[in-house]
Amino acid sequence: MSKTVFITGTSSGLGKLTAIRFAQMGWNVAATMRTPEKETELTSYDNIKIFKLDVTKVDQIQTAVEQAIAAFGKIDVVINNAGIGTYGPLELATEDAIDWQFAVNTRGPINIIRKFLPHYRVNGGGMFINISSFMGITTAVPLGSLYNMSKFALEGLTEGLYYELRPFNIELRLIEQGGSSGNHFMKNIIWGKDENIKDYDDMMMKLQQFMESAETSGSLDDPQTIVDAIVAQATGESKEFRTVVGAAGNQLVALRNSMPIEEYLETMAKNLDLDQEEFIR
Ligand SMILES: NC(=O)c1ccc[n+]([C@@H]2O[C@H](COP(=O)([O-])OP(=O)(O)OC[C@H]3O[C@@H](n4cnc5c(N)ncnc54)[C@H](OP(=O)(O)O)[C@@H]3O)[C@@H](O)[C@H]2O)c1
Repeated sequence: MSKTVFITGTSSGLGKLTAIRFAQMGWNVAATMRTPEKETELTSYDNIKIFKLDVTKVDQIQTAVEQAIAAFGKIDVVINNAGIGTYGPLELATEDAIDWQFAVNTRGPINIIRKFLPHYRVNGGGMFINISSFMGITTAVPLGSLYNMSKFALEGLTEGLYYELRPFNIELRLIEQGGSSGNHFMKNIIWGKDENIKDYDDMMMKLQQFMESAETSGSLDDPQTIVDAIVAQATGESKEFRTVVGAAGNQLVALRNSMPIEEYLETMAKNLDLDQEEFIR
């Protein structure tokens, strides 16, 4: 019997590619998104069913989960993929932007996991694959504190749940991807800015340049390698709790693990060409 995967945020990027890959592998796919009426690509697969779901709306999640279970009988793997990136100085972020970053990247997976736990417990198990980032393990750029916070929290949530879910044969996985090419994530970044405060402008400009050059330099990962890592977990080919995908992510995590945090932060400031006087104490 075919297995079934339930994925959040399949309107674009990694979520869409993952939905297509699982469908091509013969899995049933419950592809969820905020605006199913706009979808034209996933609709061409017989084994993909699309459900409306905003990860911040608990009632909508309840309905989508019930509909997916009614359609496919049993869900084997849930992928918490939906995510947004808020960058900029914390001082300049709006209250709404701060809440929204947490609501989508952290509270969203909490909402989804809680709605699936009864189903998994009754069925004797299941798997949650949470899409994190190397920004969930360490810092990679300045002005990313809110995004860092959301993914660090996702990592803590996933690790913390291990103990209570293990008795029910419910497995947890984290995929820490770096920057990946060909998706919309960089374009969806929400920048905090205040025209009256110039003190952060230089750092903002450097971050923007750094991100733009990453997009054009070919240093970003092929998103299909991230899909490969997700599939390896879902199929049981890999049993790693954490999978860091891509050369850049693995280099950064190795660097972080090789030195004390003070030295790491100074090294990154140097690498990012930030003002040495201010960063190196
Ligand atoms: N791309 C990278 O470089 C990178 C690096 C590290 C980690 N990640 C992580 O990878 C995951 C996928 O990102 P991506 O790169 O594929 O970016 P993406 O193309 O922007 O995809 C993000 C998806 O999340 C959805 N989404 C946003 N808010 C939502 C909400 N409230 N409810 C449900 N869905 C929502 C978006 O749907 P809409 O079309 O409705 O907005 C979109 O389908 C994210 O968790 C991200 O943090 C990405």
